[in-house]
Amino acid sequence: MYYNEQLYFWRQQKDDVAGMMCNPEAFDFEASERTEIISYLPDLRGKRILEPAAGIGRFTTYFASVAEHVTAIDFVAKFIKKNIKASSSFLNTTHHIGNMMDVDIENESFDLVFVNWLLMYLRDDDARVLCDRIEKWLKPEGELFLRESCVSASNPNRPHSHAHYRDPEFYEDLFIQKFSLLSKGNVVIYEQRHANSNQRWWLFKKIRFNWLS
Ligand SMILES: C[S@@+](CC[C@H](N)C(=O)[O-])C[C@H]1O[C@@H](n2cnc3c(N)ncnc32)[C@H](O)[C@@H]1O
Repeated sequence: MYYNEQLYFWRQQKDDVAGMMCNPEAFDFEASERTEIISYLPDLRGKRILEPAAGIGRFTTYFASVAEHVTAIDFVAKFIKKNIKASSSFLNTTHHIGNMMDVDIENESFDLVFVNWLLMYLRDDDARVLCDRIEKWLKPEGELFLRESCVSASNPNRPHSHAHYRDPEFYEDLFIQKFSLLSKGNVVIYEQRHANSNQRWWLFKKIRFNWLS
């Protein structure tokens, strides 16, 4: 029921950057925002990337252009259709339509999991489950980039009832149990555009299990 409603909401959204960013003003600053997010990522050369909730592929095509391979997943067919079209000139992409809570992914198969706005649409318990699964999907020393709208909507004047605007501590406390924190911050362009310093991001690294401790 919960995910049927989420899917219903997302199917109503347009398959463009305004739809992806839930913000009609997004066309004015989407390119700068994308560049800023990319600047927080580690070196992607030779990496296998998993992109949950990839949407229309704002990041997928960039990943395909620099990384070894990118797997893009989203539960809205029209978004994945557009994503496939956008990345059609690359041979190193795989696309799936599916709910991230149901997908079957081989353990230790990715170097980077890139999550840009997904956990805020999951229930608390499912966010915890996904945290465990992401850790398993990553290779040893693999990294996770996570970005979520905390405290309020990205454009605070346009909240959505289907999103959970959690405190950033929820994510940090959750992921620090399984990962080490490499860096974190907030998306500066949202401070400038919307006086919002709670578009939070984190770069985590999978903790290598120490058999001696
Ligand atoms: C705010 S958009 C972000 C899209 C993309 N990451 C970006 O930054 O452009 C959120 C995306 O999450 C997808 N989504 C939400 N819940 C999902 C779920 N449970 N499984 C798969 N995709 C989901 C939506 O369809 C939508 O494409």
